Amino acid sequence: MAYLLGIDVGTSGTKTVLFDASGNTIASNTQEYPLYQPKNGWAEQEPEDWWKASYISIQNVLRKSGIDASEIKGVGISGQMHGLVLLDENDRVLRKAIIWCDQRTARECEEITSKVGAKRLIEITANPALTGFTASKILWVRNNEPEIYEKIRKVLLPKDYIRLCLTGEYATEVSDASGMQLLDVPNRCWSDEVLSKLELDRSILGKVYESQEVTGTVTKKASEITGLSVGTPVVGGAGDQAAGAVGNGIVKSGIVSSTIGTSGVVFAYTDKVTIDPKGRVHTFCHAVPNTWHIMGVTQGAGLSLQWFRNNFCNEEISTAALLDIDSYQIIDDAAALSNVGSNNLIYLPYLMGERTPHLDPYCRGVFFGLSSKHDKRDVLRSIMEGVAYSLCNCLDIIKEMGIDIREVRASGGGGRSSLWRQIQADLFGSSVNTVNSTEGPALGVAILAGVGAGLYKNVPEACDSIIKVKSEQTHNVHNHQVYQGYYKLYNKLYHSLKEDFKTLAQL
Ligand code: XUL
Repeated sequence: MAYLLGIDVGTSGTKTVLFDASGNTIASNTQEYPLYQPKNGWAEQEPEDWWKASYISIQNVLRKSGIDASEIKGVGISGQMHGLVLLDENDRVLRKAIIWCDQRTARECEEITSKVGAKRLIEITANPALTGFTASKILWVRNNEPEIYEKIRKVLLPKDYIRLCLTGEYATEVSDASGMQLLDVPNRCWSDEVLSKLELDRSILGKVYESQEVTGTVTKKASEITGLSVGTPVVGGAGDQAAGAVGNGIVKSGIVSSTIGTSGVVFAYTDKVTIDPKGRVHTFCHAVPNTWHIMGVTQGAGLSLQWFRNNFCNEEISTAALLDIDSYQIIDDAAALSNVGSNNLIYLPYLMGERTPHLDPYCRGVFFGLSSKHDKRDVLRSIMEGVAYSLCNCLDIIKEMGIDIREVRASGGGGRSSLWRQIQADLFGSSVNTVNSTEGPALGVAILAGVGAGLYKNVPEACDSIIKVKSEQTHNVHNHQVYQGYYKLYNKLYHSLKEDFKTLAQL
């Protein structure tokens, strides 16, 4: 039999999934690791934790499935985007990785804009300078940790560090590289102009491939650690969002996905480079050759609910442990008992600043309208609604850009909640569907691996045969109307508080 392996290096953990050639899950394993927040708005992780989680989850999947590793025809790697992994001349990690949601680089973004020029930056990288992206993180290290900067020989993205561990190759691929702000996005190659204006040496970057191309094979050393066979091809893979999109069949016009993972993303396919002149959504290369994608990002989506659960839901967590169910199931049931609008409570999900639509590293979370009549059920529902309001902002901008939207597909951990899907359907005023696989990014990169290994002709054809719509949740017209008032107020609140967020950051 032919099998494919997908590895997704996420923010809360790494998930490895083994699929058969029809995209059925054979075995899966997740290994978690910590997120370090040394200061307000900072976020770091240990690359060695990602590698350990990757090889343990690969070993577990091989053991659970009982297959012979030689039957795995290809490996795809997906991962959280934008994170900065710095290596010295011996491939030793120089400091903890500064990851995607870290907001420390406002000054470096100004530096990038002034050195490259705002207009030129958007022409080349298809995006304005953003705190989440990798280039500003490199400059931050140069400006603040010169002794580390001097030792840098390679800069890799999170999943590309795992590639190095598996294959010994310094490589990346177009979808993830787009989020470094060093790629010429229309031409799908490193931009010498941006690199030279930022005084960065091209040699620190890996080779850029298309996502489905083979970038190397499993080495003897990696084979001994993971149990994979020496010589197994490892394809480019994709950033988690492009990978998740492939895993949800977002490889043609008309379908968008709404993903609630740690971050939240509304993702649309496009066959030409389409840029929001205000830079509120990102335009990146898609994982399918000659195509691009547009995505709006909510920084604190699943993160908001996770934060609340971890800090205020001990009772739900212990009940879930007793009943051997997921604590989010209990949280969902509680939130369902509140009403549309959470009894007049509005949550702004800006725990880690916000990207779409505000591009503001200083804003922070808000519960607006709290009263003594509210209880935990209202607070939980308001968090789910606040995330949905932010996703609706992403959808609105994508619509404004003239992208055809006929179907919304929910995915990510939050997409598994039928309540959260219904809130989105009611707010968006459209149906929200789910597909037959919930493996998202891991399936997406397994499909890419299948194309690279020659099992499938191309990505769209593979998606057509593997991914099917499983459920459709239609919107409630009355709830949609009620949500309009809340959504309007939600949008106004940011503008009312914008300056106060800055003042708070300076206190
Ligand atoms: C996308 C983004 C996040 C991370 C983490 O631009 O920053 O989606 O990839 O999931």
